[in-house]
Amino acid sequence: MRALIVGCGYVGLPLGAALVKKGHEVFGLRRSPSAASELKNAGIQPLMADITCPETLTALPRSWDWVVNTVSAGGGGLPAYRQAYLEGTRNLMAWLKEQPPKKYVYTSSTGVYGQTDGSAVKEESPTVPAAETGRVLVETERVLIQAFREHRFPVVILRVAGIYGPGRGHWFQQFLKNEARIEGRGERLLNMVHRDDVAGIIVECLESAHSGSVYNVVDDEPITQWRYFHWLADTLGRHLPPAGGEVEPDRKRGLTNKKVLNRRLKMELGYQFKYPTFREGLTVEIQRLEETGQLDSSAGE
Ligand SMILES: NC(=O)c1ccc[n+]([C@@H]2O[C@H](COP(=O)([O-])OP(=O)(O)OC[C@H]3O[C@@H](n4cnc5c(N)ncnc54)[C@H](OP(=O)(O)O)[C@@H]3O)[C@@H](O)[C@H]2O)c1
Repeated sequence: MRALIVGCGYVGLPLGAALVKKGHEVFGLRRSPSAASELKNAGIQPLMADITCPETLTALPRSWDWVVNTVSAGGGGLPAYRQAYLEGTRNLMAWLKEQPPKKYVYTSSTGVYGQTDGSAVKEESPTVPAAETGRVLVETERVLIQAFREHRFPVVILRVAGIYGPGRGHWFQQFLKNEARIEGRGERLLNMVHRDDVAGIIVECLESAHSGSVYNVVDDEPITQWRYFHWLADTLGRHLPPAGGEVEPDRKRGLTNKKVLNRRLKMELGYQFKYPTFREGLTVEIQRLEETGQLDSSAGE
């Protein structure tokens, strides 16, 4: 297959490498020309464009079997979210209109679920986030699902939890930097997934998911903040982070508390996680940090 990964970054690079290994012809799209060597090293052919500027897309080849959109707004604010996700998606769809791919995978986020009561959340659960950024993602999903309903646009939507893996993971990084705080009694649930499983699930979706499907992409063990930090403190021989009192939800991100379920992913796609929980994934990452001398064993003692 001829595959295009739009926003070929943290998830896109191992995804592209996995597709290359399977014999596919893979292109990766980024804004920065400096990304070209990184892409080439993974066997991915680089393309430069900015999906928020449709005129930069016009010169690119348009015949693709598979398109994956893993563009991220990074740490940007609400305008960056609107541009990268909503306008970026509209621009890509307009660009692909004449020659739609056979499959289009979009990495949305579990941020579309606004639940705050610790309830279990399936793909059919309401998507009414309080956070403005979450509402942008809901709107982006709506645009894609409408295109599927009206024109059979072959989209698969993945609602991805907090990604961790080599060098990444919000809570883990906070813990390592001694900047973590336990909110209240630490009862809020964290939903996570390893980068390599996100890449593996995208491959599975390209190969066998039905168009119009929506999947939660989260590992087997949503965990309370307290238990997560407790495991880290035990494993690394460090103190628990201090309790930081109640945290006010900020208007941008909101503060949700929910247990996101992955049953559909496992039952329909038969996906088997490489890292079923953060314990397996972080054990490998901690080993990597130790072996490369990046873990300060005296910190936090
Ligand atoms: N990180 C998480 O915890 C999390 C949680 C839920 C969902 N997700 C979603 O999962 C997906 C993959 O995340 P990731 O961590 O792999 O993302 P990432 O590496 O932060 O970003 C992907 C790439 O997008 C490119 N990009 C950004 N804006 C672009 C634009 N306007 N046009 C073209 N390329 C652009 C960036 O490269 P250049 O700067 O070179 O363009 C970057 O390398 C994203 O869609 C993200 O929203 C992430």
